[in-house]
Amino acid sequence: CGIVGYIGKKQAAPILLDGLEKLEYRGYDSAGMAVYDGAQINIKKATGRLKVLNELTHGGELLPGTVGIGHTRWATHGEPSDVNAHPHFNADHTIAVVHNGIIENYLKLKNQLIEKGYSFISETDTEVIAHLLDYYYKKCENPLEAVTKIMHRVEGSYALGILFADEPDVVYAVRKDSPLIVGKGKEGNLIASDVPAVLKYTREVYFIENEEIARLSEKNIEFFNVDGEIIQKESKTIEWDINAAEKGGYEHFMLKEMYEQPKTVRDTLSPRIKDGRIVIEELGMTDEEIASIQKIHIVACGSAYHTGVTNKYIFEGLARIPVEVDVASEFRYRDPILEKGTLVVIISQSGETADTLAALRLAKERGIMTLGIVNVVGSSIAREADKVMYTWAGPEIAVATTKAYSAQLIALYLLAIKFAQVRGKITESETTELITDLKKLPDQIEMLLHNKEKIQRFANRYIAAKDVFFIGRGIDYAISLEGSLKLKEISYIHSEAYAAGELKHGTISLIEDGTLVTAVVTQKDLYKKTISNIVEVRTRGAFVLAITNEENTEIEKAADYVIYLPQTNRYFTNSLAIIPLQLFAYYVAVGKGCDVDKPRNLAKSVTVE
Ligand code: G6P
Repeated sequence: CGIVGYIGKKQAAPILLDGLEKLEYRGYDSAGMAVYDGAQINIKKATGRLKVLNELTHGGELLPGTVGIGHTRWATHGEPSDVNAHPHFNADHTIAVVHNGIIENYLKLKNQLIEKGYSFISETDTEVIAHLLDYYYKKCENPLEAVTKIMHRVEGSYALGILFADEPDVVYAVRKDSPLIVGKGKEGNLIASDVPAVLKYTREVYFIENEEIARLSEKNIEFFNVDGEIIQKESKTIEWDINAAEKGGYEHFMLKEMYEQPKTVRDTLSPRIKDGRIVIEELGMTDEEIASIQKIHIVACGSAYHTGVTNKYIFEGLARIPVEVDVASEFRYRDPILEKGTLVVIISQSGETADTLAALRLAKERGIMTLGIVNVVGSSIAREADKVMYTWAGPEIAVATTKAYSAQLIALYLLAIKFAQVRGKITESETTELITDLKKLPDQIEMLLHNKEKIQRFANRYIAAKDVFFIGRGIDYAISLEGSLKLKEISYIHSEAYAAGELKHGTISLIEDGTLVTAVVTQKDLYKKTISNIVEVRTRGAFVLAITNEENTEIEKAADYVIYLPQTNRYFTNSLAIIPLQLFAYYVAVGKGCDVDKPRNLAKSVTVE
C-alpha cells in the first residue's frame, strides 16, 4: 500500500492524488482520501485504480481543505472494495487513519473493542486502529498520547497517517517495520510511504525510524519516541530523480524486489508463529481434517511450480504425506485421479493464471478440497479456492518473480510443519528447532544479499555464455529448476536444470571446454553423490560453480568457485540458495544489457491458456 499526507497552505486533495499516483506501483486495487474542510473530516474512497478516485473527486475539488491523508491499497485483510478502502474512521468520524502493513493481533483487538461496544463496518485490520485510537483519545483527550498508547497494543507492521478533527492543524505519522518518510516543503509538509510521492515538492526528507512518531503542522515538524518524549532528527537531501526513486534507488524493480526478500519472508512468517507454535488462522482446517488427508496434489505454473517441487520433498519428508506436483497446463488435461481424502494445493502469485485457475476449477468440480497459496488478495484463485493462505510479498512488478517465490516457499514450509505436527510425525522439540531455523532465514537472506559483489564479479565473466547447466539432487534439484529459469528468462542464455544423477544419461555430451555448470549441494546425505557428478563434468572441461553449506569445505577440491550458505535446516536451504542464483541471473542480464524488468515475450501474469 501507499500512504501520503499533506498539511500546508495549498489545497490538500490534488497534492494527495499526485503523490498517490507516484505510489501506485505499491498497490492499486482501491484508493481514498480524508481531508479536513475547516469543520469536519470528509472521506472519499473508491475501488479500482486511482483514476476512479480522481474522477469521483473531480481531481480533488470535491474535497476542499488544506490538511489531508490519502492511500492507495494493496489488499491484505478483506477484499478490494469501497468499504475496505482507506481511510478508515472512528464511529463519530473525528479520527481518520490510513495504514500500510499488517496488524498481527487485530482479531484479538477487534474482539476486545467489540466487547467495549465498538462496531466494525469493514473487514480490515486498519479499522481496529481507528477505534483503538478513539478509545484512548476519549480517555486522555491528548492525540499524541493516544498514538503512543496504541503503539503499545498493536503487534505487527504499520505505517500510519492520522488526522484528529479536534486538532485539525496537525497530521500524525508513525511507523514500525513499514516505510514512512516526512518531506519538509516550502509550502507545507508531507508524509509518504516512499520518496517519489514528495519529490515534486521537496528534496529535504526525514526517514522515520521504527516506533517513532512525527507530528506535522504547516510550519513545524516534530518527532517523538514511543513514550511521547521529543527526539531530534536530521533531514537528508534526496539526489535521485523520480524514476530512480520509484525503484527505491535501485536500478531495476527486480533488484529492489530481491532486496525486499528479508522483509517478505518475515511478513509471511511472523504472523503465523505464535508462542512457539505454527498458527495458520485463515486456513480454517480442523486437526481432524488435516489428519485425514491421504494425498496432496500441488498444481502451479512457472516459478510457483518450482516452489511446489521443493515442497514435495518437505511434505513427504516431514509430514509423510504422498505428494504429486504438476504443471497446471498438464494437470488439467490429463484426467488426474483425485480420490477422496486428497487436498489440491494451488500456488499462484497473481491468482489469475489461466491454467492454474482451470486446474482449481477441475479439482472443485470433482468435489476435492482446494487450498490456494496466493499473493493477490481478492484475485480469482483467492475467491474460488475453498481455503486460502496468503503470501505477504506485496505487489511484485518485475516479470521475473523473486520475492513472491520466496514468500511461497515460506507459506509451504509452514503448512508442511503444521501438517507434520498435527499428524504426530514430528516431536515438540523438532518443531521448536524447525521454527528456530525459520526465524533465522530473514537475517540469513539479508547477509547473502549483502555479499552480492562476489556473485556480481563472477557473473561478469559469463555474459557471453551460450549454455549453462544447473545440477542438484533432491531439494537441490528443485532449486536448480528455479535458478535455471531465472537465468534464461531474463538473460536469454540457454540453460537447463538436471537431476545431477541423470547427467550421464545424455546431458553430459553437451559439456564442452569452459561450459558453466552450477551445482547446488545443500543436502548433507547427498554431498558425496553430487561431488562425484561435479568431478564428472569437470573432467570433461566444465567450469563448476558450487553453492553449498558452510560446513562442506570438502567441495573446494572438486569445484572451481564456491559460494557458501549459512547453516539452516536441510528443508529450508532453497530459501538461501536461491539468493546467489537470482543475483547471478540478474547481473548476467544487466551485463548483457537486457530489459531485466520486462524480458521479451514474457508477461507477469498469463491470463490466457
Ligand atoms: C508467469 C510469470 C512467472 C510466474 C508464472 C506463474 O510465467 O512470468 O514468474 O511464476 O507466470 O504465475 P502466478 O501468478 O500464477 O504465480
